[in-house]
Amino acid sequence: MAQGPTVIQIFALCAISLTAVTLAGAGSIVSQSFPVPRLSVNLDSPPEERWSPAMHHWNLDQMRALFMKTLGQVVPVEALPLVEKIGDVLDDLLPEPYAGEIRGIANTIGIGVGQMAVINMLYEFTAACTSIVAQDANGTIWHGRNLDYNFTDAMRNISAIIDFKSQGKTVYTTTSFVGQVGVFTGMKPYKFTISLNERDKGKAIENIVEMLQALLLGQVKFTTFVLRDALANDNSFDEVVQRFTSEQEVAPAYLIVAGVDPGEGVVITKARVTTVNVWRLDLSGNRWFLLETNYDHWVPPPKDDDRRDPGNKAMNSVGQKNIDNNTMWNVLSTQPVLNDQTIYTTLMSAAKPEIYSTRLRTLPGL
Ligand SMILES: *[C@@H]1O[C@H](CO)[C@@H](O)[C@H](O)[C@H]1NC(C)=O
Ligand SMILES: *[C@@H]1O[C@H](CO)[C@@H](O)[C@H](O)[C@H]1NC(C)=O
Ligand SMILES: *[C@@H]1O[C@H](CO)[C@@H](O)[C@H](O)[C@H]1NC(C)=O
Ligand SMILES: *[C@@H]1O[C@H](CO)[C@@H](O)[C@H](O)[C@H]1NC(C)=O
Repeated sequence: MAQGPTVIQIFALCAISLTAVTLAGAGSIVSQSFPVPRLSVNLDSPPEERWSPAMHHWNLDQMRALFMKTLGQVVPVEALPLVEKIGDVLDDLLPEPYAGEIRGIANTIGIGVGQMAVINMLYEFTAACTSIVAQDANGTIWHGRNLDYNFTDAMRNISAIIDFKSQGKTVYTTTSFVGQVGVFTGMKPYKFTISLNERDKGKAIENIVEMLQALLLGQVKFTTFVLRDALANDNSFDEVVQRFTSEQEVAPAYLIVAGVDPGEGVVITKARVTTVNVWRLDLSGNRWFLLETNYDHWVPPPKDDDRRDPGNKAMNSVGQKNIDNNTMWNVLSTQPVLNDQTIYTTLMSAAKPEIYSTRLRTLPGL
């Protein structure tokens, strides 16, 4: 059984490098991968009810135990009243449909509404670690990501592809942890794909008590909700870029967006309130792909966590002519881009929604 994270571990996401480097040194370790379940959430149902059918894919007693254990480890006793309070005033804190969905999920699992909100807050600070957007020789845009997390065994079990449907049709698709109403990775078919990478490793909000207080003061906007808002409301690459560059989020982040037309690929570097940098594909300048880990692209990555240079090297050796979902899988399977904290790899292309895939990753001996 997985160990739950401590506060330190939660915020140490992606600070993983020593093990990763060792693995890279070992060279050709073969990794395994497994598909995740693909489930539906019906947007035509009320927020309180729409997650329940998907949740029942899991053993809810085990899930409750996992969440309670996690909460026990991250929430100090003196913060418990704050957690209760959040449950009581959730509708004032979070916009719809998020408050209703969290309430419904909490009721389905049988834990407190405030507790479920805190689980969502923890998810908020766990998004990592490598995202790539690339344009092939035909102008097709491809988007891949590895999500790394220092709490892998427990999270691995509760990842799924979720098709959000209305009138029986998929409006958007995400890869999510169960109980998470925000989004790290998603696609609006024939429109755009998005992913979120963490920046500054959660230094922005140092501890859970501060986070809870910020939430109660209405100062916090979940970045993962901004991604879901984009999937729900936007219909083009440009609209998403506009949203991501103008909204204020809870934590510094990298927002990666890919569209359907040539040139539509961008990495947006956000500070908490402002947009720091917008980095686009530039085919005339021979920049046919962008690869973002968890460091600003204009400064060198730290020596002890350099997944960028090996990733760039792998992309360049594939080459623009040969890039597609299969070769991007190979790049995302290169160590240490793939490392012992990688939970899943997602491959997507908004122009080819049928290729959307998420596979769980494991390296042997872990
Ligand atoms: C690009 O188009 C050509 C001609 O239609 C096709 O043979 C080739 O497979 C395409 N390449 C990719 C990467 O889709
Ligand atoms: C998570 O990170 C902490 C500190 O960064 C480390 O001590 C621990 O071994 C890591 N856990 C896993 C499962 O890798
Ligand atoms: C995770 O999956 C393993 C095997 O796949 C299972 O033994 C374990 O009980 C699961 N844990 C949870 C919390 O569902
Ligand atoms: C890439 O997409 C094709 C369908 O076009 C699929 O057959 C193949 O399995 C996909 N590859 C990966 C690694 O997901």
